[in-house]
Amino acid sequence: MKKKVVVLSGAGVSAESGISTFRDSGGLWDNYRVEDVATYEGWLRNRKLVLDFYNQRRKQLLEVEPNAGHYELARLETAYDVHVITQNVDDLHERAGSQHVMHLHGELKKARSTADPNYIIELDGWELNEGMTCPKGAQLRPHIVWFGEAVPMIEPAAELCAGADYFIVVGTSLVVYPAAGLVNHVPQESPKYVVDPKEVYAPIHNVTCVKEPASSGLKKVVDELLHIASRK
Ligand code: APR
Repeated sequence: MKKKVVVLSGAGVSAESGISTFRDSGGLWDNYRVEDVATYEGWLRNRKLVLDFYNQRRKQLLEVEPNAGHYELARLETAYDVHVITQNVDDLHERAGSQHVMHLHGELKKARSTADPNYIIELDGWELNEGMTCPKGAQLRPHIVWFGEAVPMIEPAAELCAGADYFIVVGTSLVVYPAAGLVNHVPQESPKYVVDPKEVYAPIHNVTCVKEPASSGLKKVVDELLHIASRK
């Protein structure tokens, strides 16, 4: 029976693929007001601005590739039951080969009906524009969890964390809840790793901090975990 590794990833794991993080200098929130492009109120105020914001990010996603960090997490699946819980809305974990990816904050490549939250489609290209409607005739919106909206996957994510034999936090400032609170569900005795070039405060026990970017930092962690698995 393979041991379970649960990963909590954030924007930093996609930084080396060329996708901006949110809170590093020059990040997305330096260039856009959250309330304008990542809240339901912003959507009601100026739907076109919100659609353009996500169109630009979706267009960029079609031009970038997974980086070594994503591939390291996929490599870990050779010896562990790996579950990636990501705050990211890109599909780079999937494209790198991770088999179990849970998106807490939605998915950039999907759109959802504003009349029926269960009507979710995969977008063909990068554009989601005004006038693109669901069969009921309602405007489609980005399938993204905006600030203040419910995070439907948080319960299953917490259950995954409660069963983690190992826990890896990578590329997240751990400042947005409820995602950041997931670290508290991991058993105290399970070894934890935090991979981030900056100091990240994680109120957890039994943690190893790897102050490096995801590409090199995750290689170190994966090498160690694969070594542990080979000894068993
Ligand atoms: N490798 C690893 N980590 C990195 C790298 C890198 N190459 N570059 C930056 N980082 C780290 C930063 O040091 C920071 O700790 O990634 C983290 C990025 O933090 P944020 O920009 O706050 O992104 P994130 O934690 O994912 O934001 C959470 O906030 O805006 C909302 O919904 C949005 O999902 C997002 C949530």
